[in-house]
Amino acid sequence: MKKILVTRNLLEENEKRILQLFDANLNKEDKLYSPEEVIALSENCDGILSFTTSVLNRETINKLSDSVKIIANYAVGFGNIDIASAKKRGIVVTNTPEVLTDSTADISILLLLGASRRAYEGRKAAELQNWVWSSNLLLGKQMSNQKLGILGMGRIGRAVAQRARGFGMKIHYHNRSKLTSDLEHGAIYHPDIKSLFRQSEFLSINCPATPDTINLLNEETIKYLPDGAVVANAARGDVIDDNAMIKAMKSGKIFALGLDVYNGEPKINEEYLKLNNLFLLPHLGSATKVTRIGMGDRAIDNLQDFFLNKRPKDQVN
Ligand code: DGY
Repeated sequence: MKKILVTRNLLEENEKRILQLFDANLNKEDKLYSPEEVIALSENCDGILSFTTSVLNRETINKLSDSVKIIANYAVGFGNIDIASAKKRGIVVTNTPEVLTDSTADISILLLLGASRRAYEGRKAAELQNWVWSSNLLLGKQMSNQKLGILGMGRIGRAVAQRARGFGMKIHYHNRSKLTSDLEHGAIYHPDIKSLFRQSEFLSINCPATPDTINLLNEETIKYLPDGAVVANAARGDVIDDNAMIKAMKSGKIFALGLDVYNGEPKINEEYLKLNNLFLLPHLGSATKVTRIGMGDRAIDNLQDFFLNKRPKDQVN
């Protein structure tokens, strides 16, 4: 049986399956292993089932034992892994696309709604139990008939578009390439950020974190958005320059922001926490039981394929 290091806790359903197929070294206590621990614990392993919290950078990858041949990441994003270094060492890297599309798109909509309808202030006011209904109590922005810009029109972006159409929004998007019309469903393509942002009364960030998308929302580009825009980020924290965003939220340029992901999470820029026009969640994009089981299954499928000498379906390097 091939030996696999599992760097975080798996749901029971996935745990049962991996134990049937592999000699799995589980992390039942869900400890956050340091890179040194990952290196030591995977010493005699054939593969690693890693998570978004496991930082496998160049230094760590280079110190992994020669026996490690595959890293199956339990996430669609793989910014936690230096895939070029893995490739150099002949280590295959896989991710878990598709299974988390719906749950993450749901969270994007929740962020847009939570921000635009002032859910954070609403919760605080309701808790105080001294609010009085009035015609102007916590007035928010309505999504219907508004233009939604989607940054990154992959599977998740398209699922956000599908949901947003149900709210009566008009969809605009930017992507590396224009989609075919059967995938666009009438959404309007913008070949550059400036043109997309100019139309985006609401903006949903659904692109992967790559060197090209780091700080894509910055002092300069935020200015392209219409005054009073609502922004939601369910992708990765580093797409937003936090200082520029905080400034724009304070000035009213940005009406409200919804965040599920953060630069350096779980830490969050302290200045954000002083703002009322922020609706925030702790990286819950894929956090439903059905999705998490799906992610575990997908990572295990990739390991299984690899050790059956097949190319894993989700190989990314
Ligand atoms: C992903 O799959 O990239 C998610 O953000 C992890 O929860």
